[in-house]
Amino acid sequence: MAKFSPPPGTADIFPAETVQWLELENTARKVFASYGYGELRTPVFEYTEVFQRGLGNETEVVRKEMYTFEDRGGRSLTLRPEGTAGVMRALLNTDVLNGTEQRVFYMGPMFRGERPAAGRRRQFHQVGVENVGRVAPELDAENIAMLMDYLARIKITGAELRINTRGIQSDRGPAGEALRRYFSQHIDSMCEDCRQRLHNNIWRILDCKQENCRRIIAGAPSYLEFFSADSRRYFDTVCRTLDALQVAYVIDPLLVRGLDYYVHTVFEIVHSGLGAQTAIAGGGRYELLLPEQSRPMVGVGFAAGMERLLLVREALAVAPAAPPAAAIYLVGLGEAPRLANMKLAAELRRAGFTVLTEVENKSMKSQMRTANRLNAAFAVIRGEDELSRGAVICRDLASSEQRELPEAEVAAYLRQAAK
Ligand code: HAM
Repeated sequence: MAKFSPPPGTADIFPAETVQWLELENTARKVFASYGYGELRTPVFEYTEVFQRGLGNETEVVRKEMYTFEDRGGRSLTLRPEGTAGVMRALLNTDVLNGTEQRVFYMGPMFRGERPAAGRRRQFHQVGVENVGRVAPELDAENIAMLMDYLARIKITGAELRINTRGIQSDRGPAGEALRRYFSQHIDSMCEDCRQRLHNNIWRILDCKQENCRRIIAGAPSYLEFFSADSRRYFDTVCRTLDALQVAYVIDPLLVRGLDYYVHTVFEIVHSGLGAQTAIAGGGRYELLLPEQSRPMVGVGFAAGMERLLLVREALAVAPAAPPAAAIYLVGLGEAPRLANMKLAAELRRAGFTVLTEVENKSMKSQMRTANRLNAAFAVIRGEDELSRGAVICRDLASSEQRELPEAEVAAYLRQAAK
């Protein structure tokens, strides 16, 4: 039968892989909780204007990549392309607008209509964090340090942290003007996207990946000198705090990030193990405006792409999490022994073992084959004879040693033998 694949850019995640996902998720929960963050779960779709307003109408994500549809009442809804805007919408119901700090993290699927490639999906998964309500460069640095901590805990080595500052909105006028003057002189030899960016979003020219454009970008004037002294001091404090926390970084003046809500610090983590899609995580400080709000939500946060974290772990040959607990396979010969085995299975599971049991009338040979196929550590065998004696036979499938035991002693024996 022909395979019925999931839609392009999506994937099924089978149990053998889920073990790895759980490791990433559970480690995130542990690390972020140790910094005082709690998990927030928001819907996977929101009113479209939450993203249009929150991320900016000129961003690539809003212009080209959103999955938008109408609900029954004709309201426009969008599958979340990222987590921050929805989290801000949820936090409007708390005290953050009065400057009370909120520390939240989230994980789950995000949706962007991008061209699928290795590490680029239409449904992908992020684990992300937002520190909302307060503005302080030390918080930006702590946020970045927490991300690096997380990467170390999931055994990702060799990741490079790139940081930059985008200043605040009022810094961008003069700096953007200087860039526009420069790029206007070269625009005829730049790509079609850059031509549009010259008018729509001059800053995005800086991270164009086209080779020809990159040569021109390399000669662009330094815009930092147009930023206010306050903004430059803010960035200096971020860098000094990272130094104090012994977090290594590279300052990358071309790093601007693709979403319009960023102010001050922006950062990205790149890793050579990824190939073309180099960013495994990105984030920064933001001022995010929601519909019908006159004041933006302020915060700092990041999100890491889980598929990309897994690709890097694969490239680094990181061993998967601890293998599942040794499995016990219960072999039953005859109806009454099989029934007794189902009861024993329930007891052993309550005692913490992973237990599988044959429920059909199969031969000894066939049941042992199943035990081996399932990679069980022990077979616990019972026929009518053993049942009448209240006993079972425990067989170590690695060494082939076996012994008969009273049923009541099986759990204690297996616990000892499985060590
Ligand atoms: P972002 O850079 O758009 O930032 O996405 C964060 C990460 O999600 C990327 O570094 C990448 O690992 C992963 N990612 C993005 N698109 C895809 C895709 N199509 N397929 C696979 N992985 C992908 C944000 O989303 C911001 N909300 C981060 C943030 C939080 N900034 C402040 N707070």
